[in-house]
Amino acid sequence: MGERTMTTAIERTDALSSSQSLQDMLTLPWKHPTIVAGVPWKNPVGTASGTFNVEACSRFYDVAQMGAVSTKGVSIIPWEGNPTPRTAETPAGTVNSVGLQNPGLDHYLANDLPMLKRMGANVITNVAGHSDEDYIQVVERLADKPCDMLEINVSCPNVSHGGMSVGTDAKALHHLIGALRNITDKPMIVKLSPNVTDIVGIAKAAVDAGADALSLINTLVGMRINTTTGRPILANITGGVSGPCIFPIALSFVWRVRRALPDIPIIGIGGISNGDNALEYLYAGANAVEVGAAALLDPIAPLRIARELDDLLDARPELAEKLAEGRTW
Ligand SMILES: Cc1cc2nc3c(=O)[nH]c(=O)nc-3n(C[C@H](O)[C@H](O)[C@H](O)COP(=O)(O)O)c2cc1C
Repeated sequence: MGERTMTTAIERTDALSSSQSLQDMLTLPWKHPTIVAGVPWKNPVGTASGTFNVEACSRFYDVAQMGAVSTKGVSIIPWEGNPTPRTAETPAGTVNSVGLQNPGLDHYLANDLPMLKRMGANVITNVAGHSDEDYIQVVERLADKPCDMLEINVSCPNVSHGGMSVGTDAKALHHLIGALRNITDKPMIVKLSPNVTDIVGIAKAAVDAGADALSLINTLVGMRINTTTGRPILANITGGVSGPCIFPIALSFVWRVRRALPDIPIIGIGGISNGDNALEYLYAGANAVEVGAAALLDPIAPLRIARELDDLLDARPELAEKLAEGRTW
């Protein structure tokens, strides 16, 4: 990323921030911490997987200021991702078919994880796999590594279950999470796919099998068509929709799961662009949130949103008190 682009982004972010300068955003003490599955977060806002690159983001702000940082999905061997084009704009969002491209676990352990820990970040390692064995190998190797939490992305196509994603089948999910629970003591978040008819049944299967927390939602299936060629824009034809257009949908997923499972820690994800959106998730029953697509437009968005929420919680002491104790409703 060129210096000119970075400066422009910082100036733009500064202009967007309603009440605080970039300097204040980086240095003021946090007023409203939370606890997710026993892990203290300095504020309830993390970055969402796949939209955060440690090297790039750390040029814009101190990433240790975030409640937590969820990394790009890490697989046991490098994945190349899907053919291009793999992103398309859509009203109030994007559709992507990046396909979990990543340089693999060895690279992650040698580079990103030590860098994040040196910076003092609370690290959530997002885990990807194409088979149950893939997930098991990654989680086993992370057992004695310094990541603070695991986030199991169960939306990947999985050969152990006929190519469908484990996150769409309660029995397959229970089997996978049970196997991972047997090999790790790390706090384990299961990241749920919204592309199901019964999210509560899926959430219960994950919790019964030993999930310590749930994060939701991953992207929704979508597509765009180029009307000049009549062909799909994405080489993969369909992709995952993210951004403000999914906000009310994602919020209802969180609320439905919270109503059915009053005690499980929940991280709300989907279309958050400001502190008020994040506050809606807390009222819907989330203990914390992760910010994704907003950071693709504005790298400092997660920090700005965390600061906006911190101020909004000043006027809501009851909610802030519950959050500080790891509760929400
Ligand atoms: C480009 C891109 C890459 C993503 N990669 C991952 C990933 O590796 N693992 C994962 O669990 N979610 C991944 N996601 C999903 C996001 O973490 C998030 O759940 C989703 O985008 C909804 O939140 P948002 O509307 O704030 O972006 C990705 C999303 C985008 C846009």
